[in-house]
This record gives sequence, structure tokens and C-alpha cells, in this order.
Amino acid sequence: MSEGALRVGLVGYGVIGIYHLDLWSKVTGAEVVAVCDVVPERAQEAAAKFGSEAYYDYGDMLARAKLDAVDICTPSGMHAEQGILAAERGLHVLTEKPMDIDLAKADRLIESTERAKVKLACIFQYRVGPEARLAKQLIDDGKLGRLLSCSAYVKWWRDQSYYDSGAWRGTWALDGGVLSNQAVHSVDQLCYFCGPVKEAEYAYVTTTARKIEAEDFAIAVLAFENGAKGVVEATTCAYPGVTTRTEIIGEKGSASLEGPTVTSFKVLGEEIDIASETAKVDGRADARDIGLTGHAFQLQDFVDAIREDRRPFVTGRDARLAVDALTKIYRKAGAPRLGT
Ligand SMILES: NC(=O)c1ccc[n+]([C@@H]2O[C@H](COP(=O)([O-])OP(=O)(O)OC[C@H]3O[C@@H](n4cnc5c(N)ncnc54)[C@H](O)[C@@H]3O)[C@@H](O)[C@H]2O)c1
Repeated sequence: MSEGALRVGLVGYGVIGIYHLDLWSKVTGAEVVAVCDVVPERAQEAAAKFGSEAYYDYGDMLARAKLDAVDICTPSGMHAEQGILAAERGLHVLTEKPMDIDLAKADRLIESTERAKVKLACIFQYRVGPEARLAKQLIDDGKLGRLLSCSAYVKWWRDQSYYDSGAWRGTWALDGGVLSNQAVHSVDQLCYFCGPVKEAEYAYVTTTARKIEAEDFAIAVLAFENGAKGVVEATTCAYPGVTTRTEIIGEKGSASLEGPTVTSFKVLGEEIDIASETAKVDGRADARDIGLTGHAFQLQDFVDAIREDRRPFVTGRDARLAVDALTKIYRKAGAPRLGT
């Protein structure tokens, strides 16, 4: 362990936890000293690979491991509760997306971290590419003029074996459906570029093809607080997985993104060229097909934010916007309440 390194405890060594642990080994100024998973073999495998301690119970890890921060990679409906327990011990908190599926719990997590004066950050890799950040700056500077519409189309492919690979997947208690698991990246993107969602004017969610509790198909019409409107269309039943699109239309121009990547940014009468062909990976066909540059950026940013005592790139309050938007969509659609 290098002197002065931030001591991280990672909880949840599944699909995304495996990627996180690999990425942590490349982060400057931090080290994963403990890994916890309720499946002992997973925790042991991680511990053996990276020389960290293995824990099988999260409370036990918090009580016994010497930590400065936790990285939460467990099922979505556990994030807030696990984050609160960490904050109560004075630990900084990084969660995978979504910050939680239950808005009230997400709020309690934000309050706990603010009370404990620790950092709270959430992975939302669609925000963090350099072109997306530049597009955000240009939109905030008014280059597109007044925003008229912000829409996202998320037509992914997840077959039944994906849902069967984890008992939590597709459940109302711990996951939700395509909106809160897959489309949440794009909903977050809409909130990033366009601001908070005021209300869902129309919402329809249904379970068409998969044997899961929550929805595998959704359509919503959104009204943003800034007056713009938008559509979200999402499914996990679109074989073989169609490229994710986000479209932002303003009075003076428009921007398009494919997954995390800006593919067009056009302003009437001006030459602005920030489109990129890189980093188009968006998981549309395979849950393991995850572009990791955004994650790498956010893990380093989390550590630097702690060291420099500044806000992380995606704070808890930023990440709350997507949970709030999804809550409004699910309520409008009359879906069962997310969370316990
Ligand atoms: N940002 C991204 O691109 C991305 C990609 C995939 C998953 N995710 C998010 O990561 C989270 C996990 O998803 P996943 O696909 O890795 O799930 P997964 O089921 O593959 O992994 C979850 C792991 O958590 C462990 N676990 C469950 N309950 C636990 C507990 N109480 N204490 C300790 N360990 C526990 C499980 O045994 C499992 O190993 C979800 O919130 C998901 O939305 C994000």
C-alpha cells in the first residue's frame, strides 16, 4: 500500500465490480484494500487477484477494514442504504448508477453525506467524455439558443438469460426495468444538458417479452423545468441492439449523441465541430460491452475531489436528477413504487 493512498473498500464483485477493481489499479492515489461480496468465492477471487482483504458481509467490512471510502457496485436498490452506513462512519461514497432506485432513499444518502461532510459521487459515464462536457458548456453558453426539445431513444437487447443471471434483475425492489437500469444513462444525459424534469406529461410502461416484474418497454413525454419537452423511448427487446440516440434541439441549432459520444453539434451560421467518432460503446447489445474511459475518469476524479476538497464531477445532487425523473415517469405510468 503506497503511503497516503486513499483506502477504498469495494462492495459487489459482479459484472461492473470486476471492471471497477481493474480500473482502481490504474488510479493514482488510491488502493482497494478490501472487497466484499455475499458470494464468498467472488470476494476471495478479487482478494487473491489484487492482494486486498475479502469480506462476505458489508457491515463487517465497514467495522473491521481500515477505509477512507467505499465504492458501491451492488444491485441498484442497495446503493443508498450501503452509502448511508459508510457516511455514518465518515467514509466517502462512490456509487454505481443509479444512485438508488428510491428517491426518498437517495435523498437520505445525500443528507447523510452532507451531514458527515464526506464526498458523494455517482458513476454516469455518458456525461464525462470531453465532447459531452464541451457540448454542455456550449449549451449553457446559449449556443443552441432556447432549448425546445431533449429526447432519448434507448433500444437495447437483453435476452432472458441476462435477467436470469441475477435474482435482483428486473425486480421492483432492487432494479426496476429498462428505464432505471439501461435508459437511466440517457435520462441522466437529458438532465445534464437540459436540467431537471418538471413532470412526465405522459408515460407508458409495460412488460412485453421478458419474464420480469418491471418494464421491458417504456415511452414517456417529459416537460423540463426550462420549458423544453422531450421523449424517452426505451426497450431491452430490440434485437440486436440499436445505437442509443440523444437529440437536443434549440432555437439556433441542434446536438446529437450516440451513447456517450457527440456525433453532431450544429449552430446556424457558425462553424462548431466537436463531433467525435470515438468511444461509441454503449452496451446496447451486451451488458459487458461497457466503454471504460468514462469510468476511469470518474474513479480518478473521485479521488482527486477528496484530495482537493472540491465537488466530484457527478455529485449526489447531480445524480439525483435522473432518479427524480424516473420516479415521475413511473408514477405517471401507474407502475408499482420502486424500492422497498
Ligand atoms: N455504469 C455502467 O455502465 C454499469 C454497467 C453495469 C452495471 N452497473 C450498475 O452496477 C450495479 C451492479 O450491477 P452488476 O451488473 O454488476 O450486478 P451483478 O449482479 O453482476 O453484481 C452485483 C454483485 O453484488 C453482490 N451483492 C449482492 N448483494 C450484496 C450485499 N448485500 N453485500 C455485498 N455484495 C452483494 C452480488 O453477489 C454480485 O456479485 C447496478 O447498480 C448496475 O446498475 C453499471
